[in-house]
Amino acid sequence: MKNKNFYIENYGCQMNISDSNIITSILLKNGFFLSENLKKANIILLNACSIREKAELTLKKRLEQLKFLKKKKKICVGIIGCFSKQIKNFLLQEKMADFFVNPDSYREIPNFIYYSTIGKQYFHVAKKNETYADISSIQNNKKITTFLSITIGCNNMCTFCIVPFTRGRERSRDPYSIIKECKRLYKNGYKEITLLGQNVDSYLWIDTIQNKKNIVNFSKFLDLLAKEIPYMRIRFSTSNPHDMSNQVLKVISKHKNICKHIHLPVQSGSNKILKLMNRKYTREKYLFLVKQIRNIIPECSISHDIITGFCNENERDHQDTISLMNEIKYNYGYMFSYSPRPGTYAYRKLKDDVPKDIKKRRLKEIIDLQIKHSFYRMQEHLGNIEEVLIEGESKKNNQYWYGRNTQNLIVVFPKKSLNIGDLAHVEIIDMTSATLIGKLCK
Ligand code: 5AD
Ligand code: SF4
Repeated sequence: MKNKNFYIENYGCQMNISDSNIITSILLKNGFFLSENLKKANIILLNACSIREKAELTLKKRLEQLKFLKKKKKICVGIIGCFSKQIKNFLLQEKMADFFVNPDSYREIPNFIYYSTIGKQYFHVAKKNETYADISSIQNNKKITTFLSITIGCNNMCTFCIVPFTRGRERSRDPYSIIKECKRLYKNGYKEITLLGQNVDSYLWIDTIQNKKNIVNFSKFLDLLAKEIPYMRIRFSTSNPHDMSNQVLKVISKHKNICKHIHLPVQSGSNKILKLMNRKYTREKYLFLVKQIRNIIPECSISHDIITGFCNENERDHQDTISLMNEIKYNYGYMFSYSPRPGTYAYRKLKDDVPKDIKKRRLKEIIDLQIKHSFYRMQEHLGNIEEVLIEGESKKNNQYWYGRNTQNLIVVFPKKSLNIGDLAHVEIIDMTSATLIGKLCK
């Protein structure tokens, strides 16, 4: 194989970006070269996402575009990351991709590439306990913030979700390897790390080799990490309300370098729908948890994910979601209309019975409400002096810095001095529903 240049395109969430960094490291170690330019690469890896129907459609469209290049230049196209069985079969049938590698098997990518170039198919045995603990990920950017996966997979089996099928059972990475990796990243100029997992709060590592009594859960791990990297900001995502403990909240409040923001997907405000979703908490328990968060970490921001139009959702259920949003007034959130995912319980057993136009209308209602709440929450920052990590120039005005405060809210302010990577003290003087505007304190 003469040309060993690879190019990776990301279609999914932060976890896919973190995975791409691991894959880059594996391929570089195996004699491949990272290409910043698709045209110069002869191996194209598409890091797929299949969490919602829209993501899969985007991937299919992209593959249609690459079909021509694939024929003309004989490039090798691999699908990696989260893809469903259905999409795999479809793409194989249409001869759109040469190979598929799921998140358990990234180490096998060099073999898959090699075999595809000699026209052979290569099969492998998936490693269900893979955590890539020994791999120092290569960051393919010049940023000062980055992501690191601490758990892979999910055991929760929410009925709408394809993740347990695409990413497998949950496993946690060795805490000491994560600490080592974070220290290395800090040395390389990174100032903020976001710890990733489908459900970080269920992180659990047992030292099966040296001391079985050494059990590290998420609160213990956060506490350890925060002490080991005192000058690095720590964020984490995502928290499942079912698994979040008071100990974790206490650790967040104890350490200045752990950012005061919790992404706490609620999915629905209706107990009936939460049960159908198999979310394992009730509206009341969720509201109690929010109360605990605000008691223990008063300055904490809270964001959400909500799905509208899930199977059986009627107008009353929708109003329950609206009233829950009104009670909490989230800082921000991500809202989706339900799309059935092949293989999931909801796809097999429940009826996708909310008409498209109703899903659309309900989605618009909650998005409009969230905009109002974001505006309300942003106002609370006016007049504050806040610590902002400078991440770069504002896209709208290069005379302004762009960064985030501890609550993960975007702050822009006139440059004057300082550099990317500095912590600035900024007085908040204005705002929109999405951005805080400030001025540098002397
Ligand atoms: N349809 C719509 N939204 C979904 N999500 C997950 N699966 C689906 C689906 N089938 C949303 C959930 C989850 C976020 C990452 O994506 O809100 O928290
Ligand atoms: Fe999917 Fe539920 Fe696991 Fe999140 S917690 S990844 S929604 S199964």
